[in-house]
Amino acid sequence: MEKYPTKNQKVIDWVNSIAAITQPDSIYWCDGTEKENKNICATLVKNKTFIPLNPKKRPNSFLARSNPKDVARVEKRTFICSEKEIDAGPTNNWASPKKMKKKLGKLMKGCMRGRTMYVIPFSMGPLGSDIAKIGVEITDSPYVVANMRIMTRMGKKVWTVLKDGDFVKCFHSVGSPLKEDEQDVAWPCNPEETYITHFPETNEIISYGSGYGGNALLGKKCLALRIASSMAKRDGWLAEHMLIVGLKNKKLGLSSYVAAAFPSACGKTNMAMLIPPKSMSDWTVSTVGDDIAWIKPDKNGILRAINPEAGFFGVAPGTSAKTNKNAIESCRANTIFTNVALTDDGDVWWEGLTDKAPAHLIDWQGNDWTPDCGRPAAHPNSRFTAPASQCPSIDEAWEDPKGVAIDAFIFGGRLATNTPLVYQSYNWQHGVYLASTMGSEKTAASEGKTGEIRRDPMAMLPFCGYNMGDYWAHWLSMGQKVSKKPLIFRVNWFRKDAQGKFIWPGFGENMRVLEWILKRVNGSASATETVLGYSPTYNDLNWKGLSMTEERFEELMSVDKKMALSDVQAQQDYFKIFKKQKRLPQEFEAELILLEGRLK
Ligand code: GTP
Ligand code: SPV
Ligand code: MN
Repeated sequence: MEKYPTKNQKVIDWVNSIAAITQPDSIYWCDGTEKENKNICATLVKNKTFIPLNPKKRPNSFLARSNPKDVARVEKRTFICSEKEIDAGPTNNWASPKKMKKKLGKLMKGCMRGRTMYVIPFSMGPLGSDIAKIGVEITDSPYVVANMRIMTRMGKKVWTVLKDGDFVKCFHSVGSPLKEDEQDVAWPCNPEETYITHFPETNEIISYGSGYGGNALLGKKCLALRIASSMAKRDGWLAEHMLIVGLKNKKLGLSSYVAAAFPSACGKTNMAMLIPPKSMSDWTVSTVGDDIAWIKPDKNGILRAINPEAGFFGVAPGTSAKTNKNAIESCRANTIFTNVALTDDGDVWWEGLTDKAPAHLIDWQGNDWTPDCGRPAAHPNSRFTAPASQCPSIDEAWEDPKGVAIDAFIFGGRLATNTPLVYQSYNWQHGVYLASTMGSEKTAASEGKTGEIRRDPMAMLPFCGYNMGDYWAHWLSMGQKVSKKPLIFRVNWFRKDAQGKFIWPGFGENMRVLEWILKRVNGSASATETVLGYSPTYNDLNWKGLSMTEERFEELMSVDKKMALSDVQAQQDYFKIFKKQKRLPQEFEAELILLEGRLK
């Protein structure tokens, strides 16, 4: 037998050089087979990282509990290491590649002692497709291997496609070497020395210290967003934090794909798998992707999108048969659950799964839990890792390497006040400006305080691999590159009334907004020109089957001009640093002047 499963000398040399530094006990090259997965899962069970769930309730599924200090992405410790600081821009943490590599080099010395080093070849996007990108992740976490198998196209076929080509070098370590005879813990990590670093100029990722989600599954945010967004800027396409969904209505003669950006834990998975209310059952909704979209103009200048992922790493809390039945179906088997609660009969539970909580649970930290104990049973950022192929609403074209044609872009934040349910931008430039100034409340998807409003341009604040000002300019320029510009909309499902209750029912009912959007695309719905954009009036939306008074709708759509004017001021402040660094598109300054004029 050959020593290596690939003849790619760059891979072999890189793997050997990493092994020499990190000194693992052994090296294992992943082949992606069923047998291998069985072995990996058995190892995880033996290490107590995985708790096997009741095979009758949840076949071939496992529960993992992380270290309580390692539960979400760590934005403070995420770095873009471009040669020049200005190329990372004012919204990213920057470090010089040389200095960061020196620091990491020290940490990496012997960091895999006592562990196995896994080599994972993976493809983001359908294997062998022109738009797919190949990465190789080196990791000392078998939990990462098991997750990457679901989230990406992983295994030996990748070597056949890669041949002697280039790949994104993805290094990952939990940063917790074992001394001789030292007993391992269930979730090794190193929260004090965590670094999630990106080198967009050399297509490298080095992630150290965390085993959780986007910090460790490097194909996802690190490759498919941060590195890919830099590639996309260079090569004239877009890598976005967007779901892709198909919407069809034969009766109305409507059929489109739309892509929508919402910040982390603000509704992408839900919209991607939306089930229309009974009164709108003439609609069919199909899922192409729930988190990331790679979007390119085809030779006719039409923007087409693919989902580079193969699985869902979905937020558990709030997911139920009522809110998102397709997600519930997607994780009925072959799923890894992380930081959810365990029921007494070996199944999983989280807040919102059922109206009534079970009388007894083991919570996400392994402690006894009862409904009156005052603690959440599942961590707010607990997640399920499930194969996309298990989603009942998966679109027939979801693996089509050509991608699907996008007719509209939707941008939505989580905002309790002053942001209407929906409005359409006047044009492409105005739409890009609207997306860039989007605000949203911070969620549990990244560490730190939740609820604070921050600007999250295009829902890409934590994921843009280069200067945000250049990214805006790139978006503006994409409008010139396409023959048919998708329409751009802003939405907000999260507006609250004076009592703190959501005004809009959300979830499946969002179909009403999407119907209006598709009708705008084909020119069959009317709208009123308002200070913010084109807005629907009460009679422009379909209210069949939902009781919503005109008054309540007005509350949902209202704009307080004083508040809007003070936001203009806040936007000017936000743009200041970009302007000073000569990275603010002039178009945005023009849009601000126009908006101010409309408000005054
Ligand atoms: P990431 O995976 O972090 O990128 O998140 P996401 O954008 O896919 O978020 P997801 O769809 O998982 O939703 C996050 C939370 O928002 C869940 O608790 C949902 O139940 C809730 N949510 C989603 N859509 C709606 C909605 O229309 N209205 C309300 N009120 N809540 C929603
Ligand atoms: C997000 O935070 O936007 C996620 C989860 O999709 S993670 O993969 O952990 O980044
Ligand atoms: Mn996400």
